[in-house]
Amino acid sequence: MKVLITAGPTVEPIDPVRYLTNRSSGKMGYALAAAAAKRGHSVLLISGPTTLEIPEGVDYLPIESATEMYQAVESQIGRHDLAIFAAAVADYTPAEIAEQKLKKLGAEMTLTLKRTKDILGSARKVMGFKGTLVGFAAETENVVENARGKCLRKDCDLVIANDVSRRDIGFDSSENEVTLVYPDRSEPLPQDSKEHLAFHLIEIFEGIHSQPSGNLDNHD
Ligand code: PMT
Repeated sequence: MKVLITAGPTVEPIDPVRYLTNRSSGKMGYALAAAAAKRGHSVLLISGPTTLEIPEGVDYLPIESATEMYQAVESQIGRHDLAIFAAAVADYTPAEIAEQKLKKLGAEMTLTLKRTKDILGSARKVMGFKGTLVGFAAETENVVENARGKCLRKDCDLVIANDVSRRDIGFDSSENEVTLVYPDRSEPLPQDSKEHLAFHLIEIFEGIHSQPSGNLDNHD
């Protein structure tokens, strides 16, 4: 299969020296890219800035902002059979990027943000992607219910839900504990290293892709 994976954080500039970002290390997405490549798939990793090494045998497309990630996904997704959205994409970005470093003025300052485009939510409806679509959901409460809402609204085959309120899993840890959330059912998986979990998840995605209904546009 041809597999597209998004990973890492996005970086939203405020001025030439400041930015908004989040705690994603990229470990989950990079582990998925490495596992998919080792299982013989052709992998494109679209990643925000991380300190990780690019996995062997993986094509790499670096981006910084949510807008750049949207453009990269839009231009590439049509060539892929499976798309996995593990990146932590900013939902809001500064409405304006100051050309010069912002000066200290009063005791408070207000930063106006505007919504970014929802990349996962655009995959089917705007980009016309017909392959197997897997989202992630980073939740701090009502994990499965919120993930199911995302799965249905964004027309995913599966959403991988993780509880990011825990420090031992999720963002920037080497382990994760996820629940597979399908449109009509869910299945919790035990806590595991991101590397080991990634192999298991890729096998599950392969299974979905090989089902007739989860394989609308097979490019093989
Ligand atoms: O990188 P690590 O440190 O290893 O941590 C892994 C992780 C916690 C980042 C990862 O497992 C994870 O949960 N990734 C999704 C994080 C996230 O942004 O979740 P969300 O619930 O806000 O978004 C839901 C889905 O929409 C995600 O697939 C996200 O990639 C996608 N999205 C979100 C906003 C946006 N503008 N465009 C998107 O495509």
